[in-house]
Amino acid sequence: MATAMALLRLAVLAGAVALLLPAVAEARILLSLDDFGAVGDGIADDTQVLVDAWTAACASTNGHVVIHVPAGRSYQIWPVTLAGPCRDEIMIFVSGNIIAPDSPEDWERRDGGKWLHFFQVQDLTVSGGGVIDGRGQEWWAQACKGRHRNDKHCTAPDAPKALHFEECHGVRVQGVTLQNGQQHHLTFTRCSNARASFLRVASPESSPGTDGIHLVNSISVHVNDVHIATGGACVSMVGNCTDVRLRYVSCGPGNGISIGSIGETPVADRLEKIEVDTMFIANTSNGLLIKTWQRMAAATRAR
Ligand SMILES: *[C@@H]1O[C@H](CO)[C@@H](O)[C@H](O)[C@H]1NC(C)=O
Ligand SMILES: *[C@@H]1O[C@H](CO)[C@@H](O)[C@H](O)[C@H]1NC(C)=O
Repeated sequence: MATAMALLRLAVLAGAVALLLPAVAEARILLSLDDFGAVGDGIADDTQVLVDAWTAACASTNGHVVIHVPAGRSYQIWPVTLAGPCRDEIMIFVSGNIIAPDSPEDWERRDGGKWLHFFQVQDLTVSGGGVIDGRGQEWWAQACKGRHRNDKHCTAPDAPKALHFEECHGVRVQGVTLQNGQQHHLTFTRCSNARASFLRVASPESSPGTDGIHLVNSISVHVNDVHIATGGACVSMVGNCTDVRLRYVSCGPGNGISIGSIGETPVADRLEKIEVDTMFIANTSNGLLIKTWQRMAAATRAR
């Protein structure tokens, strides 16, 4: 009922939306988290509100839908999976802050490997100039305790991937800041036609395993105009990846660009058509690293 009312109200506001967001002038529906009852104080759990907005957007047949995360506020979102397929294109316009719960204890009995997880979604754009903050500090501290204490590359194996797209097609992530990832900041797993541009990705140099962009078994991933400074690799890719293009990427501090491991298992993984063009790499442990295992012939071509 609340959802239907919000839809009605926002359909009336559609003219104003086009003025506010020129890039989405064709948008016909704006779903603001606040209209769905979000608190946005950085303390309250606004997860259900995001799920409700997603459900409404995903079911909408009225053309392009924008889910708006208003500016000047912080919405605390717990681990969540937002699944497709949806009826039409969706944009999530992040003006404000999306933040994770800060204590790993808060994640008990939830899926530890994921925070903002999109599954089987098509034609989704995440945009808007706001901040997605994984607040990973306690995860990093945990990673290097116990038997991993002296391991330079200690990572918490179950630390969540911050923004994770799985089996998605036509996803665009642009113009947002991704920071303090518990682990990788932006991950594409079994995705095709993904675009990441005009991003700022930032975590402390000392944060373990915080790759900027991580690709697994993905096809056609183009990254451009991105600034990445983290504790992990700037961009890493594993499994079978084809047509990966990096252009105008500034990288460092961190571990540079990482391709592979290749040949770790007897099954051949293929990393093909990897194009790296116009990079600024500084203060990294490696520039571009291709990791191979001795027993297999590498199937990589870097050009
Ligand atoms: C890569 O592709 C090969 C051949 O299709 C397959 O056997 C292998 O499992 C794939 N690798 C991964 C990590 O899925
Ligand atoms: C590299 O790191 C040093 C020491 O932290 C810093 O002074 C310098 O500005 C960095 N260079 C770049 C290009 O980021």
